[in-house]
Amino acid sequence: MARTIRFHEIGGPEVMRLEDVDPGRPGPGEVLIRVEAIGVNRAEALFRSGSYIEPVRKLPARLGTEAAGVVEALGPGVNRFEEGQAVSVVPSFSANDYGVYAERAVVPAAALVHRPDGVDAVTGAAVWMPYVTAYGALVEVGGMRAGDTVVLNAASSGVGLAAVHTANRVGATPIAVTRTRAKARRLLDEGAAEVIVAAETDVPRRVLALTGGRGAEFVFDAVAGPGVAELARAVAPGGTHFLYGGLSGLPFAYPGFDLGMPAWNLRTYTMLETTRDPERLRRAAAFVTSGLRGGAFRPVIDRLFPLEEIVQAHRHMDSGDQFGKIVVTVRPGAS
Ligand SMILES: NC(=O)c1ccc[n+]([C@@H]2O[C@H](COP(=O)([O-])OP(=O)(O)OC[C@H]3O[C@@H](n4cnc5c(N)ncnc54)[C@H](OP(=O)(O)O)[C@@H]3O)[C@@H](O)[C@H]2O)c1
Repeated sequence: MARTIRFHEIGGPEVMRLEDVDPGRPGPGEVLIRVEAIGVNRAEALFRSGSYIEPVRKLPARLGTEAAGVVEALGPGVNRFEEGQAVSVVPSFSANDYGVYAERAVVPAAALVHRPDGVDAVTGAAVWMPYVTAYGALVEVGGMRAGDTVVLNAASSGVGLAAVHTANRVGATPIAVTRTRAKARRLLDEGAAEVIVAAETDVPRRVLALTGGRGAEFVFDAVAGPGVAELARAVAPGGTHFLYGGLSGLPFAYPGFDLGMPAWNLRTYTMLETTRDPERLRRAAAFVTSGLRGGAFRPVIDRLFPLEEIVQAHRHMDSGDQFGKIVVTVRPGAS
């Protein structure tokens, strides 16, 4: 048996329970891992509350798509890994099929990457989702390169900070947008070329001033809602506005006509475009691993919670006060 987080009804953080569950044996193409650390994602809060892009299909349900651990057993046909190897789980499967909020969990081998030497479990759990999301949209799809400018909101989120590091890694200029001044200094310390405090500033006007009137080649937008029309005015002709999250929780009308039909590419993106394509995942893994080795990529850890405090971890995420990634650590057999 393995202590496992499950929920029996849709709802807030309090519906999550720690239960003894048989993790099962790995089937064809699957691996059983001992989990050491878990990356907490907004998607899990949305799934648990019934507002994710994919509905909960059966209850009780598990949670969790991002973790670091050690291989315990291999299913038939798995030959890329060995028992005892340190690995990370990259989000690439349906939350209805697997969940890593547990001491031990079965996951698809296709979702595993080798954890490089020297990468501890907390880093191994925190690095993949943010950096693959930023890399996949901006570099793989968008072709971001040296000299480009990217405007990114929710800048203090795990993905926002990874986008700052990714832009710097390719020689682009990251302009960070955050809601309050409280996080501005730390964003500059993490490599933002400029920080715009949304509550105090006309964001598109400031971006146009910073880019000599041209605008940014990319907007990387986790908030969506009414701010889309505003940020669209900050995009350079032919530039791309990636919508990858909906933190505002608000709808918006496509503003193309209101803006005078600019050459503005509005595109949704999820990291699944990258992680479910073996060749794209291979390129992403090479990019992230080389950034880790060189020190350019260092996931910012906001706070650690033990597995027993998963409810508090999700409440902390809901607060929006975090700076970086929330990680849950797993001590085998703790009660
Ligand atoms: N498409 C994909 O594949 C993909 C993958 C991973 C994550 N995501 C999405 O990316 C976003 C960030 O995820 P995350 O897990 O890195 O961090 P997160 O915990 O969802 O984001 C926290 C940050 O978002 C900002 N924020 C929180 N509530 C907000 C609100 N109501 N309006 C505007 N900003 C708000 C705050 O930043 P400031 O205080 O700096 O403003 C806060 O520090 C989420 O929307 C998530 O669903 C998408």
